[in-house]
Amino acid sequence: MKTWICLIGLAASLGAAVATSGWTAVAQTRDPRTVKELMKEDIAPAADVIFNYVAIDVTLAGVVENAPKTDAEWAEVRKSAVALADSGAQLKAQGRGREYDKLAQEMTDAALLARRAADTRNVSRLRAAEQAMNAACENCHQKYWPRSDQQPNGR
Ligand code: HEC
Repeated sequence: MKTWICLIGLAASLGAAVATSGWTAVAQTRDPRTVKELMKEDIAPAADVIFNYVAIDVTLAGVVENAPKTDAEWAEVRKSAVALADSGAQLKAQGRGREYDKLAQEMTDAALLARRAADTRNVSRLRAAEQAMNAACENCHQKYWPRSDQQPNGR
């Protein structure tokens, strides 16, 4: 019983978070592009913007933890996060089944964390969101893109 109450509480607070954040991206029509095109044209570029902003450079001079600094940089992070969240909806609209949808939703959720991080200019949140995004790419690729482990950037 406790679990149920917890779950209901969680669902309610998630619902509230979504409502207050004004998230309304629902794919109305199915994007005519293939999954491969969506990955190449939308998803990878949007993800790369975020990955690059939080990249950790290890050089002879030491370790540099990059982060967005200016308003314009944070705005770019936000824009990419929103695009990525939207792409998750596009993946779901392709009708590949429940497991696939769940993995696509994972990517959207991670992207929304990144958007929230940008809204609050919170670098550690952005790092956490980036980890979640990375995991979301990898989880789906392991299952639905069998060749991913042979790719140079198979995430
Ligand atoms: C819900 C599933 C799913 C998620 C989530 C996902 N991918 Fe993919 N991705 C695929 C599938 C399936 C393919 C293989 C498409 C094909 O070759 O037909 C693919 C292929 C790719 C490719 C190769 C495209 C090409 O040129 O052949 C890249 C790059 C890529 N994904 C990047 C990403 C990144 C970055 C993320 C996370 C931010 C991500 N993907 C999240 C399913 C997913």
